[in-house]
Amino acid sequence: MAQQHTHRVAVIGGDGIGPEVVREALRVIDAVGVTLATTDFDLGAARYLRDGFVLDDDTLEELRSYDAILLGAIGPALGDTRIPGGTLERGLLLRLRFGLDLYINYRPFRGVPGSIADGHSFAIVRENTEGPYAGEGGVLRHGTPHEIATQGSVNTRFGVERCVRYAFERAAALEVPKVTLVHKTNVLTYAGDLWQRVTTQVASEYRAIAVDYNHVDAACIYLVDDPTRYGIIVTDNLFGDILSDLAGAVSGGIGFAASGNLNPARTGPSLFEPVHGAAHDIAGTGRANPLAAISSAALMLEHLGEMSAARRVEVAVAEFDADVHQLTTSGVTDELLKRL
Ligand code: IPM
Ligand code: MN
Repeated sequence: MAQQHTHRVAVIGGDGIGPEVVREALRVIDAVGVTLATTDFDLGAARYLRDGFVLDDDTLEELRSYDAILLGAIGPALGDTRIPGGTLERGLLLRLRFGLDLYINYRPFRGVPGSIADGHSFAIVRENTEGPYAGEGGVLRHGTPHEIATQGSVNTRFGVERCVRYAFERAAALEVPKVTLVHKTNVLTYAGDLWQRVTTQVASEYRAIAVDYNHVDAACIYLVDDPTRYGIIVTDNLFGDILSDLAGAVSGGIGFAASGNLNPARTGPSLFEPVHGAAHDIAGTGRANPLAAISSAALMLEHLGEMSAARRVEVAVAEFDADVHQLTTSGVTDELLKRL
């Protein structure tokens, strides 16, 4: 018997194809019998262009009161120069990640038929609040020939350890439990050493889990050559960002890639979003693939404790045998609902 509690979910459709794919995700949640009380939040590039609003303290606090946040995509159209670079990334998306302490970016992949990773499931556990994303650094003598720009990478023992622990917890549930630390310990010796030592220490508590290490450049080759070597990849914020686009590409395209920006300590809501962007070029054409948003919704259901509903959606997506490229956005959902 599913719990009777109605989950309160903040919905940020956002820009481009964001609202279209979120609509499909909500249809699927409804079809598996989970009742949500949703509230729409008008945030993103379109909102910013209308009235200059990005995100303020009050809205952040309001969002904090929800059980979860479902986000479509945020960002202006390619070549739209009206929004200074970083305004929405730092001001909205990263502010949510940092402000709500969404310290894990969990990105599961499953190779669709015909892709390099065909049939293989693996996941990236990306640290989501530190690394080069923390904003450490600055600029001196801006615009002069003697300009200096520095951009540090913040790695705390606490932040690294909670991320690595999450990776091992996830790996423990796998059929073939394996964690691969990806870093660049041969060059980034300070941060790399911390990640390496923490991984070795945590690994000693999980004797049944195989542990491996790859340099990030080598991992790019392995992901393309033989993704089956990976179970859980654990890595820092920037490496995780880059590797997850590659992992999406070898798994059939970023249109399938889901993510959970998680606060496993549950001191606030977690945020679920497709890895892909707003894709303004296909917005409104019905050509957006909603499966990444639908899989993100499955991750949200799992986080909300709706295990059987989450599993149904996950299995339906994994076994989806229709060609998404021949279907419209809502057509994909129609086909998926038939298979639930
Ligand atoms: C992602 C995106 C973001 C990131 C951008 C939009 C800030 O690329 O979620 O992967 O770099 O984390
Ligand atoms: Mn990215």
